[in-house]
Amino acid sequence: MRVLVIGSGAREHALVQALRRDPGVSDVVAAPGNPGMAGQATLRPVDPADAESVVGLARQVAADLVVIGPEVPLVLGIADAVRAAGIACFGPSAAAARIEGSKAFAKDVMAAAGVRTAHSEIVDHPGELDAALDRFGPTWVVKDDGLAAGKGVVVTADRHAARDHGAELLENGHPVLLESFLDGPEVSLFCLVDGETVVPLLPAQDHKRVGDGDTGPNTGGMGAYTPLPWLPAEVVTEIVTEVVEPVAAEMVRRGVPFSGLLYAGLAIGQAGPAVVEFNCRFGDPETQAVLALLESPLGELLYATATGTLAQAEPPRWKDGAALTVVLAAENYPARPRSGDVITGTEASTPDTEVFHAGTAQRADGALVSAGGRVLNVVGVGADLTEARARAYERLAAIKLAGGHYRHDIAQAAVDGRISIPARV
Ligand code: GLY
Repeated sequence: MRVLVIGSGAREHALVQALRRDPGVSDVVAAPGNPGMAGQATLRPVDPADAESVVGLARQVAADLVVIGPEVPLVLGIADAVRAAGIACFGPSAAAARIEGSKAFAKDVMAAAGVRTAHSEIVDHPGELDAALDRFGPTWVVKDDGLAAGKGVVVTADRHAARDHGAELLENGHPVLLESFLDGPEVSLFCLVDGETVVPLLPAQDHKRVGDGDTGPNTGGMGAYTPLPWLPAEVVTEIVTEVVEPVAAEMVRRGVPFSGLLYAGLAIGQAGPAVVEFNCRFGDPETQAVLALLESPLGELLYATATGTLAQAEPPRWKDGAALTVVLAAENYPARPRSGDVITGTEASTPDTEVFHAGTAQRADGALVSAGGRVLNVVGVGADLTEARARAYERLAAIKLAGGHYRHDIAQAAVDGRISIPARV
């Protein structure tokens, strides 16, 4: 099987690598890809947001399967165009991708499916902002009601900060979503979904704030780990049966069946799991850790999802142990990341680690340089989280990037036993 992966981040790099491990995959083409993928995939230029460009490339490389990584092309309907060209595509239609593209649509689906989520209000006029803020708090959750790569979210106990963020979004023409704050540890559960068939992958936890101890602004994600030693298996089952399956069924009922990866971001509170957000694609950086433990052939699973045969596929098998990923970010990320800094030390391989490229580029003289906010991901795999952490951080210590920064506490709270789910009321 020839697979074309669309995207250029560490998530797509991890997908490329996992596809290479699948004996049923003969070739992987990544477009536009990144310098780190060059040894594992043929890199081809593409405009991921342009249907003609993606379909043209899929035909040129005779792709049997197109895997679309990021949300923007999905929301724009690129998967629809690939399928219309008669090529199997892993990724939802534009209509189904609204589960991520419009938070108002997601709330409506959840309400119809009886799924617990935060109470929310949309504000689309500056004159309504203060009164709406008064109906929320003492912790305010202020979101951009569109795609913002995690950076459009401010969670704060400071009403002025909440107001400033809401006002700035409105000034830039973005409707604001205010939400009640959901308490409890967060879980990312990725599910392969083909209509009403739902197959969960391992649960993971992201670290969204930029600084150690969950301080500083929200980011696209600074690190993640899997599995979650503090999350009982029955809660994963509960998420599947009481959250993801009802949402998948509701989308079928509406005539917009979901096909691809449905990412449920949840908080596990006193009343049980509640949805923070749905995304229509693999999460970044959780995917880099989750796929590190996948033993089953990834191409087979994605192809089965894309062709409506997921119910007949063998369920995924997983390695024992744990995996975590740490993100190396550029100076000034997430505000205005600096680009063009030389990166060294990525080749100094150590056992059970991987380096995935995210925001990197090759300079004319061949040097590897930073070219984005999140620059690299270092993944460590071990018998448990302690070993996986030690391996990832050891490998990261050998990588040099001027001004680069990363969190030192990825999975530390789980290792220390400081995460527990509240007793049910
Ligand atoms: N891990 C956050 C995201 O992928 O949106």
